[in-house]
Amino acid sequence: MTTDPKTPAPEDPAKMAEFDTRLARDETIEPKDWMPEKYRKQLTRMMSQHAHSEVVGMLPEGNWITRAPSLRRKMVLLAKVQDEGGHGLYIYCGAETLGIDRAELIDQYLYGTAKYSSIFNYPTLAWADIGVIGWLVDGAAIVNQTMLARASYGPYARAMIRICKEENFHKRQGYELCATLARGTPAQRAMVQDAVNRWWWPSLMMFGPHDGDSPNSGDLLKWKVKLKSNDDLRQRFVNLTVPQAKAIEITLPDPDLRYDEASGNWLIGPIDWAEFKQVISGNGPCNHERLAARRAAHEEGRWVREAAAAYAAKRSEPAGQAA
Ligand SMILES: [Fe+2]
Ligand SMILES: [Fe+2]
Repeated sequence: MTTDPKTPAPEDPAKMAEFDTRLARDETIEPKDWMPEKYRKQLTRMMSQHAHSEVVGMLPEGNWITRAPSLRRKMVLLAKVQDEGGHGLYIYCGAETLGIDRAELIDQYLYGTAKYSSIFNYPTLAWADIGVIGWLVDGAAIVNQTMLARASYGPYARAMIRICKEENFHKRQGYELCATLARGTPAQRAMVQDAVNRWWWPSLMMFGPHDGDSPNSGDLLKWKVKLKSNDDLRQRFVNLTVPQAKAIEITLPDPDLRYDEASGNWLIGPIDWAEFKQVISGNGPCNHERLAARRAAHEEGRWVREAAAAYAAKRSEPAGQAA
């Protein structure tokens, strides 16, 4: 009898039962613990996708560092973009504890099919976009990542606790920038309103497809990697954001947006999933530009990686062998 290489071997039922019991007791799973292959695979996919998103996310905002309108704004933006790079490296380290090499993960997204968040394939057309990204994109990320800070995989959960603290700063600096522009000149108000009009729907898409159309959600919820569904998280983000928009007198671009007394939720109109599919399948406004920039950075950094590896090899030679 031959086995199909695509069909994973069945897991040991005793180990599987113990794993399920540990999850039921809300214990964290650590790198050296036994885990089902599917759990390892899903986490590797999710964590690496998250790390890629942090690094690609530096590009749209990095685009404005040289054009920030004051030294204060420039320092804040530099610190924020640097944080995102740090988040990426931190999550790559976490993903490596699942037994995959970082070089392989990076290869998968620069030259393969690994994905990153669809939001970073949109352009930053005006300075107000920097405020709106902090407010809406980092705001959406916080809702998602606060949940992940209680995920069942220990290294991922711990990374999220630290990252969420920085994300709070990102969101605040963005909202403060939007509030400043919103009470500025008519041109500044118009600039921030236009940026909100362009980023609102892509921010809602960051939570992923509706629960019924999300192929990975079932497993991730069962294994307590995710504790809430895409739609629940999206709703939480909308409920938090509507009053913030009202406070700075900015309109969210959704004619169907309304408060539902019965549920206490702000209900939104339909999301354009055709656009979402276009962007995640590589046809968003900036997909090609983003990947080209990351590939170029990776190639230009090759000599640094080679020099570091050569230095490390030389340091590990027994004493007296080095010339
Ligand atoms: Fe981040
Ligand atoms: Fe952030």
